[in-house]
Amino acid sequence: MSTAMEKWQRFCQTRIADRALGFSLDVSRVRFQDHDLTPLWPKMAQALAAMKQLEAGSIANPDENRMVGHYWLRAPELAPPPAITAEIRATQSAIGDFAAKVHGKEIVGTAGPIAHVLHVGIGGSALGPQFVAQALGTAHDPLVMHFVDNTDPDGIDRVLAELQGKLGQTLTVVVSKSGGTPETRNGMLEIQAAYKAAGVDFAPHAVAVTQEGSQLAKTAAKEGWLKTFPMWDWVGGRTSVLSAVGLLPAALQGLKIDDLLSGAAAMDVLTRHTDARQNPAAMLALMWYHIGGGKGLKDMVILPYKDRLALFSKYLQQLVMESLGKEFDRKQNVVEQGIAVYGNKGSTDQHAYVQQLRDGIPNFFATFLQVLRDRSGSSIDVESGITSGDYLQGLFLGTRAALAEKNRDSITITVDEVNGATVGALIALYERAVGLYAEMVDINAYHQPGVEAGKKAAATVLSLQTAVVTALKQAAGPQTAGQIAAGIGQPEAVEHVFKILEHLAMNPGRGVVRTGGEGPLTDQFRAG
Ligand code: PA5
Repeated sequence: MSTAMEKWQRFCQTRIADRALGFSLDVSRVRFQDHDLTPLWPKMAQALAAMKQLEAGSIANPDENRMVGHYWLRAPELAPPPAITAEIRATQSAIGDFAAKVHGKEIVGTAGPIAHVLHVGIGGSALGPQFVAQALGTAHDPLVMHFVDNTDPDGIDRVLAELQGKLGQTLTVVVSKSGGTPETRNGMLEIQAAYKAAGVDFAPHAVAVTQEGSQLAKTAAKEGWLKTFPMWDWVGGRTSVLSAVGLLPAALQGLKIDDLLSGAAAMDVLTRHTDARQNPAAMLALMWYHIGGGKGLKDMVILPYKDRLALFSKYLQQLVMESLGKEFDRKQNVVEQGIAVYGNKGSTDQHAYVQQLRDGIPNFFATFLQVLRDRSGSSIDVESGITSGDYLQGLFLGTRAALAEKNRDSITITVDEVNGATVGALIALYERAVGLYAEMVDINAYHQPGVEAGKKAAATVLSLQTAVVTALKQAAGPQTAGQIAAGIGQPEAVEHVFKILEHLAMNPGRGVVRTGGEGPLTDQFRAG
């Protein structure tokens, strides 16, 4: 057990800070000694070299035969082909112009000035924009943001209820890199139907962000949507927040996109440092490797002590888990890699799962995010000389100390305040830490075969549903799931057949009636 002064010395020695950016990383509460890192330095040196090549335009995602260029988005001059540099600049300027025209009422809705933005997208096409909107939004934003990020009909209804009577002043931004993601396509069709039901033309309120030639691009062109902004194959979904995917909604919301970009660019400079001890992304990746044995044996708990950053854990959950959660390494060995990520915010979580972190199963490491500025104005005292913000700080420091006392590792990231630059910097920090860690464990961080497999599995279920409904319509009388499955020649699909039938029977207008029975084996269904 080290003394308080030893801890202080370790804190001072290991801290990496950038005063201009208002950022620091503290890994002093991770239990590592210098000799623990000795075998990891060569891996990190190799990872930093690979990252340099990636930034220079190597095919870092061989499975999709593409470059990985999200770092160019905030330093367009670094893009190896000049055409990409020009495209990035042109897009950023087009985003600025478009937002200015909307705010300046040069572009208006059919019922008046645009007052709302409805963002439709999923995964990498939603989580980043949602995080940025919540982190930087204020009550004075020129436009109010709304998000549809699922194919849940009730979820869509809830968002549409917020926009009732306002669609004529709502810009709908449909975001899909591939332009063919079913959830986003469904969201778009549902929103289009709502505009129609409200007697409002969709096309003059619709904007697409997608790759050239995609289904979405074709739809937007055919229907004469207001505008289409590009996405590029060299930007992956979960690292696309600083492309038009995130910059367009942010600009419409009235956020300063230049601050996001400059913060990310500054973090990129810091995290290109070849001395890993001075490089916060390298230190993060090294800590993840050390703590989890290079196999993700401990979960990453993200605890920002700031409500604005609550969505950061959700954003990181995708960035880390979709990038690192891989069955095979790059030599096709089965490795089943990944790091589980969860979190929400402190101190709220201290009244929830932090109990287990302090006292229960030690299968995690915490990452605290501390924000030094409490609020934009001054604070009242809630006790003599003590503000609410002092409480937040006290609760954070108390939890950090308690975890350390119980031999639970923690990392702390501190920013001066939540602003465009620090949000951009946090995004860039984790993008690079994930990339470096993936290099260390030799996996491709930039593809998502599991996501693609999930899409295929859903398509199989939907064609099964069509066969089930057809068979039920043709049946002479009520049928069990087993009878239908056998009748369509797919007896092994009986469980899915049952679930399809009970879902259809529960929803009006779907043509299926449940007529009785006492469970999956005997429940009967008929067309009706
Ligand atoms: O990170 C990813 O690649 C995914 O999460 C995608 O962003 C998600 O599947 C949505 O894809 P798209 O933007 O093509 O609709």
